[in-house]
Amino acid sequence: MVASAQNKEAGSAAVSEGVVQGRPIKVVAILCNWCSYAGADGAGTARLSQPHDFRIVRVPCTGRVDPLLVFKAFEKGADGVLISGCHPGDCHYSEGNYYARRKFELLRRMVPHLGIEPERFHYTWVSASEAARWQEVVTTFVTGVAELGPREGRAL
Ligand code: FES
Repeated sequence: MVASAQNKEAGSAAVSEGVVQGRPIKVVAILCNWCSYAGADGAGTARLSQPHDFRIVRVPCTGRVDPLLVFKAFEKGADGVLISGCHPGDCHYSEGNYYARRKFELLRRMVPHLGIEPERFHYTWVSASEAARWQEVVTTFVTGVAELGPREGRAL
């Protein structure tokens, strides 16, 4: 199965539009294939309860995530963007998440200057064996975004 078809399949399985303030919350979760996606998959396999109001975008490595993709998600109407990858030191490609961490930290600091509440962007690390941690991370993030409600406006 090609990656895009897998993403679609994973995304559609993970989506259940919860309605807050009259419209569904849209959360994008960008997960690296080797750790966080496997952790999320493990949470599903273990039937750990988790929110359904997010769409997963599976990437080979967090080092592949261009910060512009995050801006694009917000521009296109995302209410929150969560990025998760392998723990520092565990990247499948050795150092991809070290580069990613630098980019995401700058992004985290920039987001409020764009008029986006800082709680709407989060990056973290979840390994393939941390299904329970994934459950906690995604539940906390999606709940926080839902409490903020839909983001006003589209322009950055
Ligand atoms: Fe997971 Fe690089 S492969 S962060």
